[in-house]
Amino acid sequence: MASQFAVTGLTKTYGSNVVVDQLDLEIEQGEFLVLLGPSGCGKTTTLRCLAGLETPQGGSISFGGRQVFDASTKTDVPAHKRNIGMVFQSYALWPHMTVRDNIRYPLKVRKLKQAIADGAVEKAAEMVDCGALLDRYPSQLSGGQQQRVAVARGLVAQPDLVLFDEPLSNLDARLRDQVRSQIHQLHQSLGFTAVFVTHDQAEAFALADRIAIMKSGKIEQYDAPEHVFENPVSEYVAAFIGMGNRLELRRGHDGWITSANDIIDLSNAVVRDQADEGNAAVARFRPDDVQMHASMDDVPAGNVALHAELVTYEYAGRHFDVLVKTGTEQLSLRAGAAEHSATLRASAPGTPMVISFSPSSLRVYAHPDGARVTVPELVAPGVGDRS
Ligand SMILES: Nc1ncnc2c1ncn2[C@@H]1O[C@H](COP(=O)(O)OP(=O)(O)O)[C@@H](O)[C@H]1O
Ligand SMILES: [Mg+2]
Repeated sequence: MASQFAVTGLTKTYGSNVVVDQLDLEIEQGEFLVLLGPSGCGKTTTLRCLAGLETPQGGSISFGGRQVFDASTKTDVPAHKRNIGMVFQSYALWPHMTVRDNIRYPLKVRKLKQAIADGAVEKAAEMVDCGALLDRYPSQLSGGQQQRVAVARGLVAQPDLVLFDEPLSNLDARLRDQVRSQIHQLHQSLGFTAVFVTHDQAEAFALADRIAIMKSGKIEQYDAPEHVFENPVSEYVAAFIGMGNRLELRRGHDGWITSANDIIDLSNAVVRDQADEGNAAVARFRPDDVQMHASMDDVPAGNVALHAELVTYEYAGRHFDVLVKTGTEQLSLRAGAAEHSATLRASAPGTPMVISFSPSSLRVYAHPDGARVTVPELVAPGVGDRS
């Protein structure tokens, strides 16, 4: 299927600051795209360019084959003619208007009188469970209700594209989950096309058909959530999507050596070849892929085992979040409460322990440039015993 929405070479600068840098993106009809990245990487600016609220210095944007922006031909369709719906971080409802008038506003601007007559406002309010609130003012609503009204206002005119700029980040945790789920259900039932900006990886994984991870005004990876989760293309992406554990490895005679002088034997030929190109690598992996043991005897066959010492732990119900130190590095892990509660509660900081993980949970990147160097199938049968 041809891309319904295409962004090519989009560039936006403020003075000498390149905020969006030759960015390419294509979005299919009905797709829910999440733009994920840290604060300041250019997400809002990208959305504002799509909406026609900023004039980029370079590139082009087309909606359904229609050019709405092109720097070379100086095409720039104004915002109100792009048929876009927007939902912002702060609710941005007009305080002097009732809920009804707020939701009706995009229909009035577009002069969609028939839709108003046909009850589009009431239907949109109903859709976000705010049908009973139509005559209230925003100040008489909770934060969650206000943001749901904002979602109704963003969708009421059935825009070609709905832009969401961190719409959940001002809500407390419980409401955030509720409104997120509601947006997800609305997308499934209405099938609108969306670009949703967030810095929260859990939100991105929950909502996205595809995730675009942004770094300094560029897209670093653009993929299905499962692919991003399993195969982050760079150390930057790995770190951003929850592979918080980082081991620096240096090349030794028999394999890769950690800062604690444990040896990780990477017998995999691919790794070995690529490793020849450099003497340093970085492994990234998730805390919930790491296990904790009282001794080396308890390590499951095939796991990589490392010597560690306890730094601290926090109780989290079914599990403990445990922080340990291996050499100069700190690693996080999740230890099942049923199995480890008694040991942990009796352990002082500095207590020696053993941690292990399956080599398949590691993603290895070149150091220092952070590019992916290998497939995940590292073979790491044993442990270098330090003694
Ligand atoms: N109107 C502006 N004038 C100057 N700099 C801006 C303006 N808007 C954004 N920036 C800068 O552009 C960068 C990206 O901002 P933004 O797109 O808001 O990032 P994000 O939404 O990812 O946090 C930031 O460094 C910000 O300071
Ligand atoms: Mg922003």
